[in-house]
Amino acid sequence: MGKLQDKVCIVTGAAAGIGRATALLFAQEGGKVIAVDKNPMDDLLEEAKECGTQYEIIQMKGDIGSPDTAKAMVKLAVDTYGQLDVAVNNAGVMDDNTAIADTSDEMMEQVLRVNTFGVMYCMREECKQYLAQGEDVGGVIVNTCSVGASHQTSGAAYVASKGAVLSLTRNTAFMYMDHHIRCNCVSPGGVVTDIPITMPPSDEFGFGRTSQLLNFSGELAMPEELADAILFLASDQSRYVNGVDLKCDGGWTCF
Ligand SMILES: NC(=O)c1ccc[n+]([C@@H]2O[C@H](COP(=O)([O-])OP(=O)(O)OC[C@H]3O[C@@H](n4cnc5c(N)ncnc54)[C@H](O)[C@@H]3O)[C@@H](O)[C@H]2O)c1
Repeated sequence: MGKLQDKVCIVTGAAAGIGRATALLFAQEGGKVIAVDKNPMDDLLEEAKECGTQYEIIQMKGDIGSPDTAKAMVKLAVDTYGQLDVAVNNAGVMDDNTAIADTSDEMMEQVLRVNTFGVMYCMREECKQYLAQGEDVGGVIVNTCSVGASHQTSGAAYVASKGAVLSLTRNTAFMYMDHHIRCNCVSPGGVVTDIPITMPPSDEFGFGRTSQLLNFSGELAMPEELADAILFLASDQSRYVNGVDLKCDGGWTCF
């Protein structure tokens, strides 16, 4: 029996990085995974096949910054499997490291649209479904936050977007604590993913400030290390853990 045996799971941002490693791990742990991303995920299925274990992954293409995607992914889970058990709201983008005086409207909108509104749209649909499933069933949410929610690792738009995710996580845990809904987040430090490749060019002043923190960061994590932490929060092993921000930064923010 896997740790997520027969659990119906949604993972957003599953084409790359932390989301991809999480989708694969969940499938290996017996989960029925709906993998959501704006980019194609064909190689995810290839890799799952190579793992050799029985796996179940359905791909769904969608932009997390649109409320329609949140509705469609929960509908897909319910239409296919009759319920939803676990949702990992992980898709996210970086900003250009600008401090507030230099942050453009476009940058604020681009980052908050995916990192904050996207997570809110997903959580709203997931919680509606969990509430509809009844208090004895409920469900689990794991949001991918960032140490940037509490430390100045990025520019104004990104840290604000992740600060909101942290508040949303705690608010949801509190609101539904009697409804069998658990809501936690993981906060990665530095992880080896595609994010530095896809992020916009860094602002010189802003990066000059934030890069000073890199002296304390130590070795970067691999996406699989984050997936293990997400699995813990998604599974019954953390059944009494609610409203927590699990920092996975190797000690970076202990200074
Ligand atoms: N890598 C790090 O060092 C780090 C540190 C802290 C937090 N995080 C957070 O981890 C999460 C995952 O990032 P990652 O490092 O794996 O990055 P990544 O770029 O490797 O993967 C992110 C995935 O999200 C998808 N995505 C982005 N915007 C989307 C949208 N609008 N709709 C649907 N899918 C979308 C991308 O296509 C990609 O597959 C993000 O929320 C990020 O903020 C990462």
